[in-house]
Amino acid sequence: MQVNIKLPQEKDRSYNVIIDELEYLKFDTKVAIITNPTVSKYHLDEILLRVSADELHVITVPDGEKYKNLDTIKFILGECFKHRLDRKSKLIALGGGVIGDMTGFAASVFQRGIEFIQIPTTLLAQVDASVGGKTGVNSEYGKNLIGAFWQPNSVHCETKFLKTLPKREFSAGVAEIIKMAVTFDKDFFEWLEINDIKEEENLKLVIQKSVKTKASVVSKDEREAGIRAVLNYGHTFAHVVENETEYKTYLHGEAVSIGIVMANELALKLGLMSNEEAIRIKYLLQKYDLPIDYEINSAEDFYEHFFLDKKSNKNKITFILPNGIGNYEIRDDIPKDVIMSVLRDFE
Ligand code: NAD
Ligand code: GLY
Repeated sequence: MQVNIKLPQEKDRSYNVIIDELEYLKFDTKVAIITNPTVSKYHLDEILLRVSADELHVITVPDGEKYKNLDTIKFILGECFKHRLDRKSKLIALGGGVIGDMTGFAASVFQRGIEFIQIPTTLLAQVDASVGGKTGVNSEYGKNLIGAFWQPNSVHCETKFLKTLPKREFSAGVAEIIKMAVTFDKDFFEWLEINDIKEEENLKLVIQKSVKTKASVVSKDEREAGIRAVLNYGHTFAHVVENETEYKTYLHGEAVSIGIVMANELALKLGLMSNEEAIRIKYLLQKYDLPIDYEINSAEDFYEHFFLDKKSNKNKITFILPNGIGNYEIRDDIPKDVIMSVLRDFE
């Protein structure tokens, strides 16, 4: 015997990313802002003036990727219970990708799921992490391996918040912008070659453009069954670099920059792009002081480390490779000897 359970269509979960238009956020529910001491020092006062709620609480967690774990989620949930938040309450993420990923995950599990709002304060979070609903934490088994797809109700990017961002963190965000331009948008890539993202009037435009690209990808493939994987261009290599250097040497965006250069070398070997195109991408990364070199200790070990990534399944490694600038290929059929010859070039 079988009983079929019919499920209704989910309600419309679409939402807006609003750039430089944060005036007031009004809620007739309880709200908790999740942030860290670095961000709150600069920006919490302004947000407190702009948010009104039945009750407004601030939950402060320590700053750093090393605190992006289940212990911190337990702490956030504990504070939510202490403040008697309920199923109508909302969480607001005020911070970079670490705060955004953790707030989203806490929202996804608190009383089986409550709404949350993203106020991203790093460039990386404004152009990438705050959009698309990937939430989660790290564990001893790897990065972002515990999590949920849980979309925010709105995202509010304020470019003025980026004025306090350290230069290195700003550049790390640029790597994700270049990633999207190379794979999806040749005109945007060419625009980036001749313009400076740091200039105020360009910054807003670049965030808009990147968010539009990410939004279009996520709308087509929320759960990464296909095209969303293209956002991982450079990441297959970057995750190994981050892992080998124990997350201490490079910011995520910096590792992505190195990963992009490595992926391009593979694309070159397969005849997917020209030397001139690879040089133009390197040049653009260097324009923002992003690293483009990495010395591999052992190519064999590096190769084995690919299999620790959650994106590698059935012993196949998935690479996102540019097919010229503005196009991509998703490949999981590249022979080991071709991959090894690229890795040996970095040894
Ligand atoms: P982060 O959140 O650690 O922020 C970087 C540093 O900048 C931190 O010290 C932070 O406190 C500080 N900071 C934040 N805003 C600031 C401001 N306005 N002024 C001064 N300092 C500020 O790092 P990140 O680069 O924003 O995010 C990286 C995280 O995002 C990683 O955990 C990564 O896994 C995740 N991520 C998620 C997605 C996604 O789709 N969910 C995509 C990309 C990355
Ligand atoms: N940053 C990759 C993704 O959101 O899919």
